[in-house]
Amino acid sequence: MSEKIILTGDRPTGRLHIGHYVGSLRRRVELQNEGDFKKMFVFIADAQALTDNIDNPEKVRQNVIEVALDYLSAGLDPEKVTLFIQSQIPELCELTFYFMDMVSVSRLQRNPTVKTEIQMRGFAGESIPVGFFTYPISQAADITAFKATTIPAGEDQKPMIEQATEIVRRFNNIYGPTLVEPQIMLPSNAVCCRLPGIDGKAKMSKSLGNCIYLSDTAKELKKKVNAMFTDPEHIHIEQPGHLEGNTVFTYLDAFATDEDFGLFLPEYACLDELKAHYTKGGLGDGTCKKLLLNILNARLEPMRQRRAEWQKDIPAVYEILRKGTEDARNVAAETLSEVRRAMKINYFEDADLIAEQAKRFAAL
Ligand code: TRP
Repeated sequence: MSEKIILTGDRPTGRLHIGHYVGSLRRRVELQNEGDFKKMFVFIADAQALTDNIDNPEKVRQNVIEVALDYLSAGLDPEKVTLFIQSQIPELCELTFYFMDMVSVSRLQRNPTVKTEIQMRGFAGESIPVGFFTYPISQAADITAFKATTIPAGEDQKPMIEQATEIVRRFNNIYGPTLVEPQIMLPSNAVCCRLPGIDGKAKMSKSLGNCIYLSDTAKELKKKVNAMFTDPEHIHIEQPGHLEGNTVFTYLDAFATDEDFGLFLPEYACLDELKAHYTKGGLGDGTCKKLLLNILNARLEPMRQRRAEWQKDIPAVYEILRKGTEDARNVAAETLSEVRRAMKINYFEDADLIAEQAKRFAAL
């Protein structure tokens, strides 16, 4: 059996969308089903979500259950994966506090993801909340408290994993080998790292209103696919179309398989054939959108059905999270007692220390 410990999480600031799905969720379900790991954790990073939503607790609270439903409907199985809520594990705060002594302000300022996020949120100068500024440190605690080896995540999480790795090295150098260096597991298909919104804008984001949610109904999905950005210069069918920046083709890159063509558009064997026809001219956007709609429905329909089932038993969903959190907390508590021992702050369980001090003072 593999020694891998897989861990990843999401901030509950909105429902999960198909960008999350191709970027990470789909891979998590595959990993879960391959079963090649010692333990797998997927968690809801509510404390991290609060770092820049402190005045909006209701939003975070509502989205905890939305994200849990998204996990279960995407196919995560609580029998195989430990699902938990970050804020309910106080050991994570404790570890964060010790890690804070190992990271400089300038190192945090150089974290490219934090840099962009600070700009995006428009925090001026030094008005950034300290908790937001330091969330990469807390994220390092999320990872190391479980001795995670493998983090399935998108490109934007790379700086976080690098920072966590540095902290682990620093810790182990000072206190002896205790923590484990994590590795990021990126999506294999580059287009899956950053799926654009339906308007062709850089990234799917709730505030831009350009997301396709896993929980969208068939009707909502159809409306969104029909409204998708394609090639503005492709006005007549016979004109050659462009693939670059054409959101329909970007999504097809992320979702379509050869089997999908057999099922939904047997005139073409694969996506390359469809692309060739499109760029040559004579293929309309409508046909491509219809294909995409069929493919997305095929992926989302089983999720809609699972979601409908779980929605009938919300107390059971909270119970899954409660049990998962309890399991996860036991693991984190074990790591923290190793950490305290390594850092020599385990006073009350260190009999040698007490004897040593007694002897020292007796000799005075
Ligand atoms: N930062 C991640 C996000 O924005 C969420 C997250 C928190 C996370 N802690 C983590 C992801 C640890 C992987 C590992 O989605």
